[in-house]
Amino acid sequence: MSKRRRRIEVLVESLAAGGDGVARGEDGRVTFVPRAAPGDRLLVSLIQERKQFARGKLVKVLEPSELRVVAKCKLFADERCGGCQWQHIEQETQGAAKQLIVEAGLRKAIARGLECAPLLEPCPPWQWRRRARFSFWAGGPRVLGFFPQGDKKITDVQECPQLEAGLQAALTAIRTHLLPGLSARGEVSAVLGANGASHVSVHGSASRKSVEALAADPAISGVSHGTRTMGKADVQLEGGVLATADRFAQASAAGNEALCSEVENAVGPVAGLRVLELFAGSGNFTRLFSDASEVVAIEAAPIPKGEYAGGARWIQGDAATRAAELVKAGERFDVVLLDPPRSGAKDVLDSIVALTPKRVVYVSCDVATLARDIEVLVAKGYKAVRAQPIDLMPQTAQVEVVAVLELA
Ligand SMILES: C[S@@+](CC[C@H](N)C(=O)[O-])C[C@H]1O[C@@H](n2cnc3c(N)ncnc32)[C@H](O)[C@@H]1O
Repeated sequence: MSKRRRRIEVLVESLAAGGDGVARGEDGRVTFVPRAAPGDRLLVSLIQERKQFARGKLVKVLEPSELRVVAKCKLFADERCGGCQWQHIEQETQGAAKQLIVEAGLRKAIARGLECAPLLEPCPPWQWRRRARFSFWAGGPRVLGFFPQGDKKITDVQECPQLEAGLQAALTAIRTHLLPGLSARGEVSAVLGANGASHVSVHGSASRKSVEALAADPAISGVSHGTRTMGKADVQLEGGVLATADRFAQASAAGNEALCSEVENAVGPVAGLRVLELFAGSGNFTRLFSDASEVVAIEAAPIPKGEYAGGARWIQGDAATRAAELVKAGERFDVVLLDPPRSGAKDVLDSIVALTPKRVVYVSCDVATLARDIEVLVAKGYKAVRAQPIDLMPQTAQVEVVAVLELA
């Protein structure tokens, strides 16, 4: 028989990185609770108890915070989708929490003089997403959608208020034409181009007829399935960047415009300079530096096509390995720009230092790994000067940061 979990009353004080509410019970111990709002008094069931902290599941809102709002999406309200963490919290509080999460994460650098600018909020609160990955299961009744937080059972998603209208049209087309022809399990990704049609990539078993029907839908410009491509092989994003559904692209068009402008300012004038870009993706930032005397772009995925990369020298491969090769070859750069995945860039930091850039611009989607990597660069002689937080994903706990470090 399973042990009944202990229940306690807590008061929620703030929001933590990752989205959980930070609450305290009568014993003063911190308890992390998902779907909590600062000011809530909650009854929670303790699912993990440690000496320093506990984790709780919300059982009942005893007294709701004034900052609570009714979630727009029924799947969020019913705890059936893990895509958003903060639909129950009003917008201004989400922004304030993101600012505090960044400032708390970078507190050591701030104590040494880093200026943390106020959060930018370039995205509309809803319908900002132009790229999505849906999971499917067709072993029983067919489902295509997202996973609830911490759950392995896919929730069937027909509509998502985060999707741009064109991407919602792609989801509807995928459900209409492709879903009946899918078998077993897999993933379907879609990215919305600037012309309003989406490229779709199917990973898993699908009938030829269903893929053809999807490719013929006006919401879809092309479909890749295994080695086959029907219709166009990619879509154009802003600035001529070519995107495919299974490659990284910034999730919001409006957010990306603001991000690119921050990156451009952070890097500064590049005429006559040598720029190294690590984790360069499809050239989203690379295209901004055509004035540089040379841009070297390193990316693990195949070298992107297109004219936008401003004549950059592209090197495909692991950033740490390839950057170490540049060091060995005696190369030097004036600026290094990097935009790593959430895990950060710890393996490449020694090479960055050895390449002697006067400025390092670090774009991060995870403040914990950013803070860790900043400390390494500071120990090697850099000064963390400025950080600009940007909300690229409203209703979620995600926050992007553009940080500038200079050789002290
Ligand atoms: C956050 S994205 C940034 C892409 C680009 N800056 C943009 O704005 O679209 C991170 C990129 O790093 C690439 N990547 C992940 N691990 C890598 C590694 N070890 N070496 C090189 N590139 C890597 C991914 O393929 C992805 O394109």
